[in-house]
Amino acid sequence: KHASMIVSKDFKIGDVGDRMFGSFVEHMGSVVYNGIYEPGHKTADENGFRRDVMDLVKELQLSVVRYPGGNFTSGYNWEDGIGPKERRPRIVDPAWRQIETNQFGLNEFMQWTRMIGAEAIMTVNLGTRGIEAAKDILEYCNFEGGTKWSELRKAHGVKDPYKIKTWCLGNELDGEWQIARKTASQYGQLALETAKVMKWVDPDVELVAVGSSARHMSTFPEWDRTVLEYTYEHADLLSLHHYIGKRDNDTPTYLAMPIEMEKQIEEVIASCDYVKGVKRSDKVMNLSFDEWNVWREPDVEYVPWQTGSPYDWVRFRMEDALVFGSAALTLLRRADRIKIACQSLLVNTIPMILTEQGGNAWRNPTFYPFLHVSLYGRGAVLRAIVDSPKYDTKSYTDVPLLDPAVVYNEETGDLTVFAVNRGDEAIALKLDLRDFEGCKFAEHIVMKHDRLDAVNTSDNPYEIKPAQAEAAIVDGGRAEAVVAPYSWNVIRFR
Ligand code: AHR
Repeated sequence: KHASMIVSKDFKIGDVGDRMFGSFVEHMGSVVYNGIYEPGHKTADENGFRRDVMDLVKELQLSVVRYPGGNFTSGYNWEDGIGPKERRPRIVDPAWRQIETNQFGLNEFMQWTRMIGAEAIMTVNLGTRGIEAAKDILEYCNFEGGTKWSELRKAHGVKDPYKIKTWCLGNELDGEWQIARKTASQYGQLALETAKVMKWVDPDVELVAVGSSARHMSTFPEWDRTVLEYTYEHADLLSLHHYIGKRDNDTPTYLAMPIEMEKQIEEVIASCDYVKGVKRSDKVMNLSFDEWNVWREPDVEYVPWQTGSPYDWVRFRMEDALVFGSAALTLLRRADRIKIACQSLLVNTIPMILTEQGGNAWRNPTFYPFLHVSLYGRGAVLRAIVDSPKYDTKSYTDVPLLDPAVVYNEETGDLTVFAVNRGDEAIALKLDLRDFEGCKFAEHIVMKHDRLDAVNTSDNPYEIKPAQAEAAIVDGGRAEAVVAPYSWNVIRFR
């Protein structure tokens, strides 16, 4: 099979913001307890943070981490997680039917986030709580001093305010599964009033309004329109979420499913721009894709009313990593409007990193596409003109076999072509790099496996891992590379 691609500096989509390389830590299952935090573990530091997990997280160079949920947030009292640990309450968390010990809370998260070199995105509870609790946590985190909550922060050993910039105004409040679900008008009104107060307290904050939690919601995209009509002037971004799960054991369809994500992005942008028109506004509403991932049935049964019980603990397969890679490229291609993206979740729940309680930590195969995009996807995303063979599935027609994204880093001069081959045959790819005449081949990273159901395990953690492919042939602004069947590719030039 053959494909071609024209890459030109003239076809720039937009700059990829640093915050596209984010993840998500929720008090859910073993993300926190027995994940990033396990005081009894042999690698734990004096804070109880697992060093082995932290080393893996650091490799990913995350820019932002969203916290503390998720569905968890809609029933959470943030005050339970601050102050002396021995005085923190054990509570029932109805969202995930777990016991929350509160041994890890806001200050532990902020410390851990700093240690991994990322910034926090904080979500306030607009389920069971509202304006006052949102104001209080903001005051605790960002206010200089001299007030009840800022002084309490200092009493807890944190002298300087955290100055957290980005705050989510709740989570998935359109969902029936959410604690204290709301109608779009109820939520829009609450989000508006909360946003006003938060910006009065700290005008530097950036606020994310809750968009539809999925494209298949019956209220999509009406929810988004209504919420934006309330919040357009006060919110800075609108959220969207997407999880891609295999259906009917149909791999060709599964590999094509990121197309749905692309449609969702277009439809949410259309909703934002519609409200922009209604409001006769000059403001462009950008998107925060603050939960995205692939999903499959968990490997471990969840036992409720535990702390740190593995929820959706899953060893992703090679095919999941391909779909995940396509999803990451879908986000890159819309970096003109998506300003924040958070893979969901980082550790143990549909994760990039798996752990065993008291044992090993290792990389799920989805770790690698994220790593590559984080390392080489920063710069300007270019619109590639692609001619690819296509295929049909039970659900989609004319699906391009080659799914690419191209990023040019003007500072370093690096040009990176990312591509997923969705098919079972190799593709000979011809690249017309017309504006990059003098460029040289740097490397072609490929990740593939003979079996699409291969996994990485604690005993065999490198069953799926990237390798170097054959060098691409480069000749005066033209290049040729071979893209292996069912593979994830990073072809780098400089
Ligand atoms: O799997 C994570 C959960 O998925 C989040 O808590 C929620 O926002 C979403 O439904």
